[in-house]
Amino acid sequence: MKRGPGSFYRRAKSIQLLVTRDRTDIVRFLRSKRIELSMRQRLALVRRLTRVTNAVRGYHTLGEILAITTEILERERPVVVEAGVGPGSSTVKLSIATALAGGRLFAFDTFRGIPDNDEVHTHLGGPLGGRQLVFRKGAFRATLPRVQRAIDQWGEPGLTRLIKGHVEETLPKLDAHVDVAILDLDLIASTRAAIRALWPKLVPGGVLLSIDGQLRATHELLADKSFWQDDLGCDPPEIRGLWRDKLLRIGKPDSASPETPPGSSCSASDSDCTK
Ligand SMILES: C[S@@+](CC[C@H](N)C(=O)[O-])C[C@H]1O[C@@H](n2cnc3c(N)ncnc32)[C@H](O)[C@@H]1O
Repeated sequence: MKRGPGSFYRRAKSIQLLVTRDRTDIVRFLRSKRIELSMRQRLALVRRLTRVTNAVRGYHTLGEILAITTEILERERPVVVEAGVGPGSSTVKLSIATALAGGRLFAFDTFRGIPDNDEVHTHLGGPLGGRQLVFRKGAFRATLPRVQRAIDQWGEPGLTRLIKGHVEETLPKLDAHVDVAILDLDLIASTRAAIRALWPKLVPGGVLLSIDGQLRATHELLADKSFWQDDLGCDPPEIRGLWRDKLLRIGKPDSASPETPPGSSCSASDSDCTK
C-alpha cells in the first residue's frame, strides 16, 4: 500500500492521530485565551494544517506546530525565522500562521539535506531513550524549487523567503530583528551556530523554540552555562521543557535589547535567496 504524501493511508493516519496523539494539543489550541482567533478560524486553521500534513512530508507533530503557531499569533506582524526546512511541511505551516499574524517568514536550509558530520547522538527519553542515532549526510534533502512549489501550492508564498546555504554562513547575514525563531536542525554544531546568530537578533520578549529536544545533546547545550556566557555574553535564560520535552522554549528577557543588525544583509538580489 502507498503510504507517502497524498495517499489514502496518510489521510487515514492523520485522522487517527487527530483523535489520539494530537487531541489534547488541539483542544488546548481551540481553548487558548492567548490568541484572538474565533472558534471558526481556529477550526479552519487546524483543517488547513492537516491538509498540509497529508500533502507534504514532515518531521513534527501537529501539537508542536500549534504551540509554535500560538507564539506567532500572540505577536503583531512578527518576523519569524525557521532554521531547518526539510521537505517544507513545517515551512508551509509556519507561512500560514505568519500570514494570519500579518508577519514575514525567513526559512533557512542547505536544501541539500544534513551536512557532512561525525556527530553521534543519544535519544533523551521515551521508548528510544538512551539509543544512539546518527544523521547521515544528505538526509531530509529537498531542493529549494521543490519546497517553493509546496509553499506556492499549500502555503503563503507572498511573505515567505527561502534562503539557501549553511546556517553558519546565512543566518549571521539576516538583517532583521526576530520575534520568533524555530530551530529544527538535528546537528548540534548547526544548532549552536544558529543560536549564536539568532539570539542577538531576537527582540526583548521574543522567543527561540527548538524541536530538537528528542536529542540529549540539545539539552546539554542549552543547559551549559558557559555556552551562554562565553558564546553569547549573557546568563542562561529561562528554558521551558529542559531535560523533559521535545519542544523547548527559550524566552528572551524583556529587558534585553537586540543587537543592531549587521550591515551586510541578505537582500533580494543575493544569489542564494529567492524572492
Ligand atoms: C529534520 S529536517 C527539518 C524538518 C522540518 N523542520 C519538518 O518539521 O518537517 C533538518 C533540516 O536541517 C537542515 N540543516 C541541518 N544543519 C544545517 C546547516 N548547518 N545549515 C543549513 N541547514 C541545515 C537539513 O538540511 C535538514 O533539511
